[in-house]
Amino acid sequence: MSESTTEKTLTIETPEGAFTVRVILDDLGEIYPGMVRYTVEVLYGTKPVYTYAINSYEVPPGSLFDTRKVAEIVFSRLAHDVASRPKTYTRPRVFTRPLPGRGTYDVVILQGSPRRFGNSARAASWCDDEAVRAGLSSRVFFLQEMDIRPCIGCYTCYNYGYCPIEDDMPWIIQTIESASIIVVCTPVYTNTVPADLKVVMDRCQWLHARQKVLGKEVRAQGLLIAVAGRRGKEPFVCVTSVVEAFMKNLGIRPAGSVLVGDLDRARDIRKIEGVESEIRSALRALFEPRAER
Ligand SMILES: Cc1cc2nc3c(=O)[nH]c(=O)nc-3n(C[C@H](O)[C@H](O)[C@H](O)COP(=O)(O)O)c2cc1C
Repeated sequence: MSESTTEKTLTIETPEGAFTVRVILDDLGEIYPGMVRYTVEVLYGTKPVYTYAINSYEVPPGSLFDTRKVAEIVFSRLAHDVASRPKTYTRPRVFTRPLPGRGTYDVVILQGSPRRFGNSARAASWCDDEAVRAGLSSRVFFLQEMDIRPCIGCYTCYNYGYCPIEDDMPWIIQTIESASIIVVCTPVYTNTVPADLKVVMDRCQWLHARQKVLGKEVRAQGLLIAVAGRRGKEPFVCVTSVVEAFMKNLGIRPAGSVLVGDLDRARDIRKIEGVESEIRSALRALFEPRAER
């Protein structure tokens, strides 16, 4: 996955036994151009007991420090700390938070409209119903009702494969990672997706990092259902491209879309003839090729 070299090693003899402090450099240029990661590790004997990592994308252009310098400072501070209080380092200290152990579904539906009883929500309920009828487990996420904060671009997910922001996002990450179908139901807002859905898409960068750092894979197919006030194809140009970029970034295979316009006039998606069956059969079409996955 990446090229690893040990840059620096120091052995420290203490009354508790021998420790090693080392700096490992990973070339992550395959993930992003020029990306490197320094990992400073403390080993008690051969067992890793403490890990600190920093990557070059964490450091914004206007920053006063650079990645290598930080790794060097951490290395010398850790070397000093291990020598002065070795007992603290005889047990592993783990700082990563696991994803929730429960809550996996075959079909995950991201409902992006703030209107609980609007057109996207209706489309989501048809998909949910269709999945359940086929004997699959399904979950609709009403994103606007969840506590999900915007990505802060810290890039620390590329160090350990987890995001430091504490909110409801781990739940979504867990379900997308284990689902076989992801449905995005969204209205068109100013030619693109509503802000809450965009926030979730950005935070899914974490999933991208999990794939690159931990080798986890998303193996789902993706379906887009978008609704717009105006008629014609034009309102969907940007939405389609945004949702496709989101899916492809995570390894979700875009496998269809249903685009429903003219809702400023129709108001209610149920009044547009044939749409319900079009949405249901678009989802059903994804059930059959499951053997391919
Ligand atoms: C803030 C906002 C921005 C919108 N922008 C667009 C737009 O750019 N193009 C369009 O065709 N419709 C636009 N619409 C109309 C919605 O896409 C339409 O009302 C849709 O049916 C709402 O979906 P919902 O019922 O799932 O909430 C906008 C609506 C709102 C509230």
